[in-house]
Amino acid sequence: MKFYIGTDHAGFSIKDEVIALLRARGCEVVDLGPTSDARVDYPDFGHKVALAVLEDAGSFGIVICGTGIGISLAANKHHGIRAALCHDAYTAQMARGHNNANILAFGQRIVGLGVIESMIDAFISTPFEGGRHAMRVDKIEC
Ligand code: RB5
Repeated sequence: MKFYIGTDHAGFSIKDEVIALLRARGCEVVDLGPTSDARVDYPDFGHKVALAVLEDAGSFGIVICGTGIGISLAANKHHGIRAALCHDAYTAQMARGHNNANILAFGQRIVGLGVIESMIDAFISTPFEGGRHAMRVDKIEC
């Protein structure tokens, strides 16, 4: 799987560890920044990751800010993006299985590395179930 990752300053310090977790699982990762913990605006990186995912068919994204809320809201402004704000392995699993999420979002101030690892494992190992869920996911776009 290929992932684009972006954060704001409140998600920056966990970014390298998340990248390492993904690479250890055989995923390709493109780091879209930021490159330091200087204050930045979460929408800039939410949009950046969303556009990269849309331009690279079949790819996925990870966005991280303090809560995961702002950066996921920004990513979800793009048609075709389904950024799921997750808090544990179950929400990450359902985000893929039922919602066909193409971006995993979480908050560095909310979840620790152990939970992040379990979310990543759930997200990368769960296929979209399709069927009745496909029709519902189609209805998300308006
Ligand atoms: C930054 O302080 C914080 O507002 C941001 O990381 C995020 O939590 C917004 O949703």
